[in-house]
Amino acid sequence: MNDKKVRSLVSILDLSTDEINSLMNVADDIEKNPDKYREKCKGKILSTIFYEPSTRTRLSFESAMLSLGGSVISTADSKSSSAAKGESVGDTVRVISNYADIIAMRHHKEGAPVVAAMKATVPIINAGDGGHFHPTQTLADLLTIRRSKGKLSGLTIGLCGDLMFGRTVHSLIEAMLRYPDNTYILIAPNELRLPEYMREALDKAGAKWEETPSLEYAMPKLDILYMTRVQKERFFNEEDYVRLKDTYILDEEKLKTAKSDLAILHPLPRVNEISVAVDDDPRAKYFYQTLCGKQMRMALIMLLLGIE
Ligand code: CP
Repeated sequence: MNDKKVRSLVSILDLSTDEINSLMNVADDIEKNPDKYREKCKGKILSTIFYEPSTRTRLSFESAMLSLGGSVISTADSKSSSAAKGESVGDTVRVISNYADIIAMRHHKEGAPVVAAMKATVPIINAGDGGHFHPTQTLADLLTIRRSKGKLSGLTIGLCGDLMFGRTVHSLIEAMLRYPDNTYILIAPNELRLPEYMREALDKAGAKWEETPSLEYAMPKLDILYMTRVQKERFFNEEDYVRLKDTYILDEEKLKTAKSDLAILHPLPRVNEISVAVDDDPRAKYFYQTLCGKQMRMALIMLLLGIE
């Protein structure tokens, strides 16, 4: 959070562990008692400004605010806003601060939400900045894991696919490092291995971790399998993308060696990395994860607006 009178969420590190746990408790209460929350944000306006494509994050933010009784104003792409005329992020959010009580922003440039949080006079929520962070996806992931496994510690977590550019992976590791006794298996080809600063974060936290290119090797050990898409939009070179895009395809055959209570997560969208046949497996949690995302965003909006 910044130290101004408004709180923003740029990185998952901006929330204390107690706050994350409390957000999950509120999300559980929203699940049980949705009527209690129907007017919590009456009279409040959320602005979503998204300069990169999105389905889940933007619509779940908007659905969250509407379910809290608030309203939404939206810019779904940079071409239809004055960003196309060269307006800066800082100027844009200063203006929108006059129209909305809270802003959820996705930007292709890493660090854009930091600039936005300095210039806005209302809370900024980072809804994904380039290959950097995606803290509200992490909130969705944490709730999905807690509801699936009943805990956030003592788990063996496999992170598979694009660990280099996968902002959801970076934020999830940062968050899970707060919970004790987790083991991380990083499953990626050499070109897409976890960045050095994240490997250093694992070491600094004293976490147990290993790297492997083999999903088959990791599978029997895992409590959580976090699949990710190889992201075409992060590659400078089409040839490298084509070579790496289908490195991992999770199918029923590969799941034969998995634990019966494995939880399979994916931030979505998926392309080829999980076979459609896996969707009917009770261990597939990735569509349920999108509901958890809406409930956590409801809880977060209330927290940042100071609503009990
Ligand atoms: N998980 C996620 O960020 O999905 P969208 O890109 O559709 O928002």
